[in-house]
Amino acid sequence: MNGTNTAIRTKHCLLVCTACASVWKDGKREGKSGGQQFMEDLSKLAKDWELSDQFDIQEVECMSACSHACAVSFAAAGKYTYLFGDLPANEPKSVEAVLECASQYYAKSDGLLPWSERPQALKKGVLAKIPPLGNQS
Ligand code: FES
Repeated sequence: MNGTNTAIRTKHCLLVCTACASVWKDGKREGKSGGQQFMEDLSKLAKDWELSDQFDIQEVECMSACSHACAVSFAAAGKYTYLFGDLPANEPKSVEAVLECASQYYAKSDGLLPWSERPQALKKGVLAKIPPLGNQS
């Protein structure tokens, strides 16, 4: 038996960069960043999400996709890790698309998210697709 189907039961991570789309003045962040707004909107929407208990939604400070704000990532044991960028803050559709795509990610035993199946807002912004550990072939 292979172990790919057991991975679906482990906790998944949805990482949101809260430093994205920040405005800086004299070395300090000014006001709320686009990433913070994105995280707030996502957290609100995730309260009614059927998979909210299956995902740790975590704030992170920069995933080195700064020129592609806002950035989010999906990760789980035994699955591909994805980094998406170019998601506009203050845009409900991009937040909805992230949860929709996270649901697709959860449903796949390997986490692969084909272009044709991803929500529109996440068709273009793939910045990284990293194979699961131990999956080199
Ligand atoms: S500031 Fe968000 S990826 Fe760097």
